[in-house]
Amino acid sequence: MLKIFGNITSNRPPVWLMRQAGRVLPRYRKLRENYSFRELMETPQLAADVTLMPVDDLGVDAAIIFSDILTVPTALGMDIEWTDHGPKFPQPLCGINNPSKFLKIQPEKFEHVYKAIDIVVKNKKVSLIGFCGAPLTTLCYMIQGVSSKQNFPEAKKFFYEKRSETQQLLEIVTEISIDYALKQVEHGINIFQIFESNAGIVPTNFYDEMFLPSVTKISNAVRSKGVPVIFFPKGIGCGLRMITPEVCDVAGIDWQTSIWDARQLVHKDVALQGNFDPHLLFAPQKIIAAEVEKYRKFFAENPDWIANLGHGVLAETPFENVKYFIQCIQQYDTI
Ligand code: CP3
Repeated sequence: MLKIFGNITSNRPPVWLMRQAGRVLPRYRKLRENYSFRELMETPQLAADVTLMPVDDLGVDAAIIFSDILTVPTALGMDIEWTDHGPKFPQPLCGINNPSKFLKIQPEKFEHVYKAIDIVVKNKKVSLIGFCGAPLTTLCYMIQGVSSKQNFPEAKKFFYEKRSETQQLLEIVTEISIDYALKQVEHGINIFQIFESNAGIVPTNFYDEMFLPSVTKISNAVRSKGVPVIFFPKGIGCGLRMITPEVCDVAGIDWQTSIWDARQLVHKDVALQGNFDPHLLFAPQKIIAAEVEKYRKFFAENPDWIANLGHGVLAETPFENVKYFIQCIQQYDTI
């Protein structure tokens, strides 16, 4: 087992869930009646409270700081609106000439995240995960402005049409993400995850050439400080072959790929995290238990596995089922 989950002494995998802070938690939904998402995220004490909620209410083995990958564009001077349909940038970069000149670095916009980390670190009982979006995913939102059209067609067109502008934007986003990640490390996070939710929107070779080097840079900056990195390239498919120890310590596997196939594709010295289908948690508990049981053999052969879903927990998932899933994993050593 990875040393970072040192709080677990028995022979079972650590378990946490992407998007565990928010969404399915009844206490979070209650808070949301009084505060907007932005208020919760930008008020350090509230963000720290929400970060720790899944530890108390679900029993997960790690907390992830309550923030969003879109703090990076905000700290590059882009205004963001959090609507009922998700995030929206009123001035997307696809409508601006020389977008890299338009961005203004404002590192003070990250301060609330560091303050929230300080509060959590003082009170935490489990490992704390920091994160950022990978540059491709972050740029998709910055260029297109909204995520309402699947697969970010405007952003993708931009990548092909304006290669050198894309390169410049990538450098800007990569540099600020490195500073942001290193500050999270200074404030005491124990693990860092890079979310590449849109890895699957470009061909694998294009990803390898254009976008993976930025991920490697962020990852190695964090790893040089002794903090392990999880890289979650959703939709990358056979591109999992590109994931070597030069890129990260742990590969987050999406729900589409079988964990056994992923084990064949990812370099043997990189641990795996994942990858139960988030929709599994809508199933009757008997089915959830049976599915968790199938991974027992995988764990026996891969003791550094981190149990998680293959994407974020879905908003309407029954809370009791989420809790039950966590318990099933945590009972691996007792059955
Ligand atoms: O994992 C956690 O619980 C920690 C907090 C976290 C949030 N967003 C909080 C959030 C993390 C790690 C993220 C990452 C994130 N944000 C990603 C990558 C992971 C993924 O799911 O693919 C992406 C693409 C975003 C951008 C984003 N933020 C979108 C598209 C949306 C709207 C749709 C949605 O997911 O709810 C958000 C809003 C958001 N980010 C919420 C939360 C709790 C919902 C806010 C609310 O209404 O309460």
